[in-house]
Amino acid sequence: MSHPLKQPPNLSREDAQPRGDVIDPSGWHTHPFPWRHPTLLAPMEGVSHPTFRALMTQRPGVGVVCTEFVRVTEQAASVRALARAVVKVPGIPLSVQVMGNSIENMAEAAGAMAHHGADVVDINLGCPSPRVVRKGVGSAMLTDVELLKRVLSAMRAEVPGLLSAKIRAGFDRADHFLEVGHALQEAGVDFLVVHPRRQTQFYGSVADWRIIAALKAELQIPVIGNGDIWYATDAFRMRAETGCDAVMIGRPALRNPWIFEQIADLAAGRPPRAPSGDDVIARLRDVAARYLAVYPAERLVIGKLKEWLTYTARAVPPELRLREVLRQSDVATLLAEVETRLAGLAPADLDLQATGHLGYERRGTVFPTP
Ligand SMILES: Cc1cc2nc3c(=O)[nH]c(=O)nc-3n(C[C@H](O)[C@H](O)[C@H](O)COP(=O)(O)O)c2cc1C
Repeated sequence: MSHPLKQPPNLSREDAQPRGDVIDPSGWHTHPFPWRHPTLLAPMEGVSHPTFRALMTQRPGVGVVCTEFVRVTEQAASVRALARAVVKVPGIPLSVQVMGNSIENMAEAAGAMAHHGADVVDINLGCPSPRVVRKGVGSAMLTDVELLKRVLSAMRAEVPGLLSAKIRAGFDRADHFLEVGHALQEAGVDFLVVHPRRQTQFYGSVADWRIIAALKAELQIPVIGNGDIWYATDAFRMRAETGCDAVMIGRPALRNPWIFEQIADLAAGRPPRAPSGDDVIARLRDVAARYLAVYPAERLVIGKLKEWLTYTARAVPPELRLREVLRQSDVATLLAEVETRLAGLAPADLDLQATGHLGYERRGTVFPTP
């Protein structure tokens, strides 16, 4: 069955609406999931390992944590290797993501993940990386709806709990995402996560939330929105604009590790947490200590710290030149340099407030043509 795209309004640069604040906490906790918060920490390859997931759930507000994708190939899946992905943070549901197009092995992998305690088994239908796409998996699978149905139906038969699919808006076109959504729904997935960029857009341009709204309006299963929730208030705006049932946040949580807590504050009617420079320093020291306890080599810890700092720098006034500390190659010097730059900064000086008062990430007022 084909579902032609309901054409979204043809927004031009002139009539694009500025992204204002829509904070309506009523109904935030009305969602169809068995989770404490309708929020998910996104899967991020190379980032979303167990230590990261534990760090991100130290503060309240995260409903579900996701693993990065586990690649399932044509070779018989080693169940023991798959089970290693299921590492839970006590008290927080875990979504384990698999990626592959082998019907039999994906079904076996999905069953093994569920058996070993994954609260959600998710399929990656969004990865845009050329090395992944060349193998016909990730976002490449969006071009073959029949294959999608067969893989997902086989996975469904093996997963007694929640089964989900994380999609992009399309591969090189965004004119059949409704058809993809219907195929996944018919195959029995319990919910969809939608990152509304095409494969060819990678992470550039703006996430077109109208695609989330179109899928939500069309499908019976719940839809989770993802993409460019840079500030806590954006989460409420996404729900208001799209009707999505929950939100997923990735890069913005690296930039602002307090974002989930701020969302929870707003949902509870509390003034949202406003981190200061000293809070950022303490957080980075904590991150360093955690990684030093896990990784044998300081060079690996430095790599992880630089990952965090690259995003942190996006919330810091450019004149403080935080990115310069990335040149350091030992942990103590790097942290000392961060401290020199950020100590004593007031919350108002950092772009980490719930409302995005400095707006460093507010590029997204114009939608691309799908
Ligand atoms: C470094 C990195 C790795 C990612 N790895 C995955 C992955 O393993 N699986 C997946 O479904 N999406 C992956 N994504 C996409 C994110 O889950 C998310 O859809 C995307 O970053 C948009 O959301 P955001 O604006 O909240 O970051 C990755 C993104 C980044 C930046």
